[in-house]
Amino acid sequence: MSQRVSRRGFITGASALAGAVAGAAAIGTSACSTEEKQSKDHVVDFHGAHQAGITTKQQDRLHFAAFDVISDSREDLADLLQTWTEMARRMSKGELAEPGAMEEVGQASVPGDSGEAYDLPASNLTITVGFGPSLFDQRFGLASAKPKELKDLPHFAGDMTRAEISRGDLCIQACADDPQVAVHAVRNLARVGTGVVEVRWSQLGFGHASATTKGQQTPRNLFGFKDGTNNVKAEDQDVLDQYIWVNNTNSWFDGGTYLIARRIRMLIENWDRQVLREQEATFGREKRTGAPLGAEDEFDALPLDASDEQGNPLVPLDAHSRLASPVENSGHHMLRRAYNFTDGSDGFGHLDAGLFFIAIVASPEKTFIPIQSKLAKKDKLNEYVRYESSSIFALPPGLKDENDWWGRTLFEQTA
Ligand code: HEM
Repeated sequence: MSQRVSRRGFITGASALAGAVAGAAAIGTSACSTEEKQSKDHVVDFHGAHQAGITTKQQDRLHFAAFDVISDSREDLADLLQTWTEMARRMSKGELAEPGAMEEVGQASVPGDSGEAYDLPASNLTITVGFGPSLFDQRFGLASAKPKELKDLPHFAGDMTRAEISRGDLCIQACADDPQVAVHAVRNLARVGTGVVEVRWSQLGFGHASATTKGQQTPRNLFGFKDGTNNVKAEDQDVLDQYIWVNNTNSWFDGGTYLIARRIRMLIENWDRQVLREQEATFGREKRTGAPLGAEDEFDALPLDASDEQGNPLVPLDAHSRLASPVENSGHHMLRRAYNFTDGSDGFGHLDAGLFFIAIVASPEKTFIPIQSKLAKKDKLNEYVRYESSSIFALPPGLKDENDWWGRTLFEQTA
């Protein structure tokens, strides 16, 4: 029998669910496995040393939104972050954004929840919040606590970025296995932010295009290739500690990390006319199996030193996997959490589709920027993609208990 519990069930069957929720909470934080965190109730633990939605087994759907703060009041901002935390805590458990918002609301009141997720289970919803570089300007008294590497990304060769879909003071990444649940979360957080924040841009994504845990089948991107084979996985504790989590800054940011988002349009029609050999040479991997060229299994190491009889490298020098590989980048790893997107067509009969690329790193300057710079200059993939946006956010550390809120450590440090 399914253990899934809808928001409606949460209200009417409150006592039955109380045990399930208490059980999920009791699982604890950093020490438990991803499988435990994503319990059979499809509830991901909201609390922990790091925010949910980073190493969480990647859900199928994304709604990502960036906001500009339109109030100049530090208090408004802190209040909103507290309200967002409380709402997100509830929605992650499969509850309504505001308690009783469907049952107890009067005819003359505006419902405190928009309602479209009322009958749906939590669907492994995670809501992750980030702070953009511009949040640390003079407006809110936060400048002294700006993370060292929180700077707008440089222009990379070939970038065709658009300001209106780049950057932002704040971001919310909502991931869930049901698109309606992810959209509901962002919609309701945006709704209560009226007067304090405005949505700057947002992006929907589907078919999670990165594996973030071991043992799951690697998903495929819209070029038809397995994506995430060599990704950092939730189980790679040493790699996470060294390359993904910010440590030892002796500041509010310890336990946090940086999120980089890039909307990468795929020139689908060009790609679809390329022969298989060309497609596989672009990534340095076989299309069907995902195995590196010259290897057998998807998870075999890239044979970077192997050549054919003519002396040509089996994995071409300009292949995406080779150029991005930690082996070729002084051991640097990034955690990828990308989603496919299709936003209709572009008016010229071409699909407006691609990869909404999300990378999580402890050091943009040491890890992301050098790799992206190299890819921008040398990647064969550049013939088939266009980088359309560029954003960076600092993700604060996780929430330790029911009273904690996003930004608490930041606001305390700058009080
Ligand atoms: C539309 C754009 C992109 C597509 C379609 C794409 C696709 C892929 C594919 C199919 C792989 C091989 C399988 C795997 O190990 O996951 C891969 C690997 C990788 N990609 Fe991308 N990628 C894109 C953009 C980027 C960008 C912008 C970066 C970073 C700046 C990046 C970083 C990596 C890394 C680090 C690897 C792992 C390499 C390894 O260790 O073997 N990718 N990508």
